[in-house]
Amino acid sequence: MDLKAKWIIPGREMGDTSPVYRVGFAADTVKSAVLRITALGVYEARINGTRVGDFFMAPGFTSYRKRLQVQEYDVTRLLSDENELTVTVGKGWYHSRFLALWEVPQWRADMMASPMALIAQLDIEYADGRRSVIGTDGSWEWSESRVRFSDLYDGEIYDAGFEHSWQPVEIYDGPDEILIPQQGEEVRPQEHLAVKSVIHTPKGETVLDFGQNMAGVVAVSLCAHAGDTVELSFGETLDAEGNFYNANYRSAKCIYKYICREGEQSWEPRHTFYGFRYVRVDAFPGGADALDPGCFTAVVMHSDMKRTGWLESSDPLLNRFFENVLWGQKSNFLDIPTDCPQRDERAGWTGDAQVFVRTACLNYDAERFFTKWLADLRSDQRANGLVPSVVPDVRDRLYSSPAWGDAAAIVPWQVYLAYGNRQLLADSFDSMRRWVDYITSVTKVPGLWRDELPEGKRHYGDWLGLDAPYGSYKGSSRDDFIGTAFYAHDTSLLVKTGQILGRDVTDYEKLHGEIIDAFQKAFPVYNTQTECVLAAHFKVAPDPDAAAAQLARMVLDAGAAMTPDTGQAYPAAALTTGFVGTPYLLHVLSDHGFGELAWSLLLRRKYPSWLYSVTQGATTVWEHWDGMKPDGQMWSTDMNSFNHYAYGSVADWVYTKAAGIQTVEDHPGYERVRIAPVPDARLGSLSARLLTRRGEIVSSWRRDGEGFAFEITTPVQAEIVIDGEKYAAGPGTHRFSCGSKRI
Ligand code: BGC
Repeated sequence: MDLKAKWIIPGREMGDTSPVYRVGFAADTVKSAVLRITALGVYEARINGTRVGDFFMAPGFTSYRKRLQVQEYDVTRLLSDENELTVTVGKGWYHSRFLALWEVPQWRADMMASPMALIAQLDIEYADGRRSVIGTDGSWEWSESRVRFSDLYDGEIYDAGFEHSWQPVEIYDGPDEILIPQQGEEVRPQEHLAVKSVIHTPKGETVLDFGQNMAGVVAVSLCAHAGDTVELSFGETLDAEGNFYNANYRSAKCIYKYICREGEQSWEPRHTFYGFRYVRVDAFPGGADALDPGCFTAVVMHSDMKRTGWLESSDPLLNRFFENVLWGQKSNFLDIPTDCPQRDERAGWTGDAQVFVRTACLNYDAERFFTKWLADLRSDQRANGLVPSVVPDVRDRLYSSPAWGDAAAIVPWQVYLAYGNRQLLADSFDSMRRWVDYITSVTKVPGLWRDELPEGKRHYGDWLGLDAPYGSYKGSSRDDFIGTAFYAHDTSLLVKTGQILGRDVTDYEKLHGEIIDAFQKAFPVYNTQTECVLAAHFKVAPDPDAAAAQLARMVLDAGAAMTPDTGQAYPAAALTTGFVGTPYLLHVLSDHGFGELAWSLLLRRKYPSWLYSVTQGATTVWEHWDGMKPDGQMWSTDMNSFNHYAYGSVADWVYTKAAGIQTVEDHPGYERVRIAPVPDARLGSLSARLLTRRGEIVSSWRRDGEGFAFEITTPVQAEIVIDGEKYAAGPGTHRFSCGSKRI
């Protein structure tokens, strides 16, 4: 991008304190004024005291070595005759640490140590046709700002009484070559939540309960004396005794400290965010006991995506779970798809993103969000095709993990199916191909993804699978089984993509066959639920029906082992899958004639199940099936987020199988649709509504005597499948009853 301005920096090292930059200028009879701006860090710009735009943590998180977004704001209405433009720059993703234990490559250490630099250009056009350009240059000034401390994990300290002392800036040799126009959705305040209740805990703490786990900040408004402080701590849950708890945040300090000036005032952090439901008041003028909860508002922040999907059933617990899935997405779509928003991670884990992408594109219009992230993925893909486990990458790992790097093939394909964007496929084709070639290059036995990892390193396996050996996070499914199944799946997606784009993919068609042969020779037996799921879903088993039948038996065996037979009409069913198997588990069951069993898993209320967390009061989806035990004890402090979207991926099954709204590969983006609901008599009703680019699709069913009544609305040509009978249906609303008769 062509900016005439220069990068500017403070005259000295700032440490954790944010600099603020300023320039004054006159401007009368302005016709239009446009500010283009970005920073190394996160910035907040103001003109004459009024905030420019509402992009939270601009310029967002990209692969900063190659890509840095520049925002453009129309600021015409903010200008008057005499003006002051100020910009505060905090550390943000650019300078903050990522997970203390992660190895920090030299380039990242250099980036973190570099100054919080700014580049901005204000182009003004006057009524008489004159133009002027005010760009960052040596005439600007800087001061330490009131943001005394800011950090991605560790929070923010703001001193409202701090007096600026202005000095000339220095010019910096900043990275002009990486500037690109804004590509993703802007992160903006989306909802404001009031305090639901004030809790006085057994330990004597004052805790505000916002009633909902979320990502964002807390805004405070109060009347205070200069030097008074407001200090808060953040948590997602209370402990078994009802006390404040946030040991699961690990090393993330999540500081919130506001030092007041005299009088009425309000503040909210601008350079960090928190993942929380509960807020402990550690300091408040006059004492925490005296506070008015009306002083505090939770501001929910996420990428500005349009809501497109709604699910509703006759079961309030299931409905709450659907809400939790949505909140999981809201909390973890803060510019990049993160694993969780609270502890010392908040990283763009590729595995989590590929697991959730289908659900994400149903709940919200996430095309732009993923288009930006995939551009980062391609930027971070290594010369040998390796796709890192986190994107944007902050490490330099020399290996990847099955089901993580595979996001390179799965995410573009799923986004394409959801929105029909061929350009995204075209942009992604080389990256997909290079990823498949990378796997081929590391395989020691042709056709099997069986690579040798550096000493002490491991694949993530079926992460958090319940069949993990004691003390391990890795389920018992074999690494090379998972790897080879994904290798085959990626190759099949590459072939389909190539065919759509008119590329020659005959070599990959051949490779796909070789991988399947190698898989079938190497893995004649499936040992875990996840192994059955992958063998059937990725069609690498010689007989996917048999793999699904084995899965059904294993699910019933696990159910019988965990739940005594109480003579219920439906036998107990239980899952043992982790991140890798869970997203496809119900699909495999219902696609192979075990729909009832899929429903048994979804409706199960006891641990392990999706609804168990809801019975424990969850308002987001948990990372671990038993994050909190029935007696309120935590399963661990280490890997225990209460806001991980991965297992929320089951919502995709509810939209596409339970309610049956499916994309058609030859007509992506819902140009045509297939609607094949799988109803269950244990539920009175289910309704799914989807706002597609082609119009609204609704699929509803309800129990009706011995059967079901269906009502289906389609804006496009649809194939409707009811009880095995196919109907060709045009746009409009169609009613059926079970027994396959059109009403
Ligand atoms: C994250 C996961 C991630 C994983 C890799 C964890 O610490 O929170 O969601 O995918 O590491 O196994």
